[in-house]
Order: sequence, then structure tokens, then C-alpha cells
Amino acid sequence: MPAPALHARLSRRLCGLESSPIREVLAVLERPGMISFAGGLPAAQTFPRIDLGRLARGCLQYGPSEGDPALRRRVASDLRRLGLTCTAEQVLILSGSQQGIDLVAKLFIDPDTPVAVESPTYLAALQVFRFFGARLETIETPARWARAAPAERPAFAYVIPTFQNPSGRCYGTDERRALAASCDAASVPLFEDDPYRELAYEACERTPVCAYLRRASWVYQGSFSKSFAPGLRLGFLAASPDLLPLLVRLKQAADLHSSRLSQQLVLRHLESRSAAQRLDAIVAIYRRKRDRFARVLERELAALAEWRVPAGGLFFWLRLRTAIDTRNLLAPALERGVAFMPGEFFHPDRAQGTGTLRLNFSHATADQAERGLAALAELIGRGAA
Ligand SMILES: Cc1ncc(COP(=O)(O)O)c(C=O)c1O
Repeated sequence: MPAPALHARLSRRLCGLESSPIREVLAVLERPGMISFAGGLPAAQTFPRIDLGRLARGCLQYGPSEGDPALRRRVASDLRRLGLTCTAEQVLILSGSQQGIDLVAKLFIDPDTPVAVESPTYLAALQVFRFFGARLETIETPARWARAAPAERPAFAYVIPTFQNPSGRCYGTDERRALAASCDAASVPLFEDDPYRELAYEACERTPVCAYLRRASWVYQGSFSKSFAPGLRLGFLAASPDLLPLLVRLKQAADLHSSRLSQQLVLRHLESRSAAQRLDAIVAIYRRKRDRFARVLERELAALAEWRVPAGGLFFWLRLRTAIDTRNLLAPALERGVAFMPGEFFHPDRAQGTGTLRLNFSHATADQAERGLAALAELIGRGAA
């Protein structure tokens, strides 16, 4: 806590600033021997080998806030293939898709602005929306938005329809169409966050919900973190023409532009002949890891919890058969060298998350998954007794 004299000078908004529970757990992970099921860390074996020798010197100069034109053109053409109507001028390159969440929050949220989110949802989005003072409401029946008074409609709806973080859920076609129709009918802007779409282990519907919109404003964002390298801090958004210029101004104020070195590396990768092959190899690695993790989970935790094997993404979402507060399990788990994410943090109303937890399967080795899940099962068994 800052000293009282300093505290009085800080912005009122700062009252809503909570530290990210994930980043706190990640800090503990530096301890030797820790097994992590906590963050969404890609496996180091999937990272590219990067040769910096042939990069243009031009990328050491300042660049445009919107991003390098060649990368914007490439992203736009990839998005058109997914069904989005999108030109290069509608693309903004981001310093990680986390920045898109920050920019969209700045665009829409004043204290007490209603914002619709899934429950559970990505906890770092909740952290940002709360920081700007959002009144969070859960997306349950979006069809009712059109009947609500305009002031009661959410300023925007934030969704992760494909391999959702944390639940792993993937919306079907009807659900995608219905959400788009509700946003159109009530003029609720849709903010679709899609960082996991490339990590698909089974065939499933992945058309962006934004592609089904006819009238409503929209922001669709993706990331190069999960399929390329998170340390490059590069993502992108595409937005309807009414929102894009405002998002560009917010980006200018935030960081001028994203790293041009990272942009060159990503563009070079996207345009290389081996890009598709590399993605296939990553997906195969994660599919094997997921299947192995599922087998160990079944052996260790079937009596204590239930879950669905995710068709994509990086997480298993567990519901305990006895609803204990999983935050109380975190300290003893860390003491035993195992990190996980309590489910409470992913809910706009934390009480609704009692008895849930998220386990990442991409980072731990097979041996760590065996030992970590056995330790977790013992702790949960004791907590539930
Ligand atoms: C749903 C979701 N959105 C955004 C992000 C941020 O990703 P990045 O900033 O690395 O692109 C993450 C990271 O895990 C995520 O799960």
C-alpha cells in the first residue's frame, strides 16, 4: 500500500485495480522444481528458432501506430478467409491481444457502465473491465437485450466463443448466429476474443461470431502468442469502420506502436512455406499432451471432480463434486510444488465459482503431470473430506 500522502494523490480509478492472481502465481513458478498447471504457457518445445540476421534495418525505426502495412494486409486476408468482411485499413496491430482488451475498455467504460461477459471468463479481462469501473453482468439470454431500455443494454458484450478460457467450450453454429442476431437487434457492440482458434484438436465450428453480424459494431481480436511466441508480445484486432479510428487514437496514446521487430518476425513466419506445417506439428504436440493429461485426470480425479475433454485450447476446467473454495487449496498446493488457478477468479460474481478450477495442460511434462495431479487429488480429497 502506498503511504497515505501519496494515496490521496492517486486516481480514483486505482481503487478498482487488483493485482492479477495469475501473475502472482507465475512469480512463484521460478522456484526450482515447481509444476505449473496455472498460466496458459505454451510448451517451450513449440517455440520457433529465430535468425535475426536477415531482418531489415528499417524495423529499428519508429513506425505507424496501426502496424506495418504488409502485416495488416496479411492479417486482413487471413480474416477474410474466416468469413469476416475486413480490409487492411480495419486492422490494428497490438502489443499482445491483452492490449486490445485495455483499448476496448478505454473506448467504452465509464464508472458503472454495464458490460456483458460470460461466466466464467478470462480473468485478466475482468481485471481490466473492473479497473475502469464496469458493472459486470452475465450473458445469459442476450435475446432480452432488444427489449431492455437502451441505457440498460450493455455497452458491449465480451465473448471468447472458440475454446473459451477457462472452460474450453466452443459455441455451435446456432449459438453463434443467435448471439450475432441479438447484438444486431439491440445494437450491442460485440467484442470477440479469439486467441486459441488455431489450437484445434478436433473438428468444430470456428467461424467468428463477428462474421454473422449485419449491423452491430464489432471488434475481433487474435494473438500470435499461443501459436508462435508469447514473448514477442504481438496480437491484432480488426474492427468495424466506426470503431477503428478511435482504437487507433487510443493505441497512439498507449504505446505509439507495437514492436516492429516482432512484426517483422511474425510476418516472415506467416509468409514462410513452413508455417502451416509448423502449426500442424504444434497441434499434434498439444493433442498428445491433452490426451495424456486426460488419462491421468481420469485416474486421479474422477471420484472428486467432473470435466469435459476440451476440443481445443490449453485448459481443462474442473467442477469438484464437493463445492469447496479452491482458493484455500492454492497455498498448500504451492507448498507441495504444484500451481493451478482457482475457478473463483474467473467469475464476475466470485461466489459462483466455488468448487471450480482451471488446469493448463500445455506446459508441464508427462512426468510433472503425473506427480502434480496426484498431489492435487490428495489435497482436494482432504479438503472435501
Ligand atoms: C482469452 C484471452 N485473451 C487474451 C489473452 C492475452 O494474450 P496475449 O496478450 O499474449 O496475446 C489471453 C492470454 O492467455 C487469453 O487467454
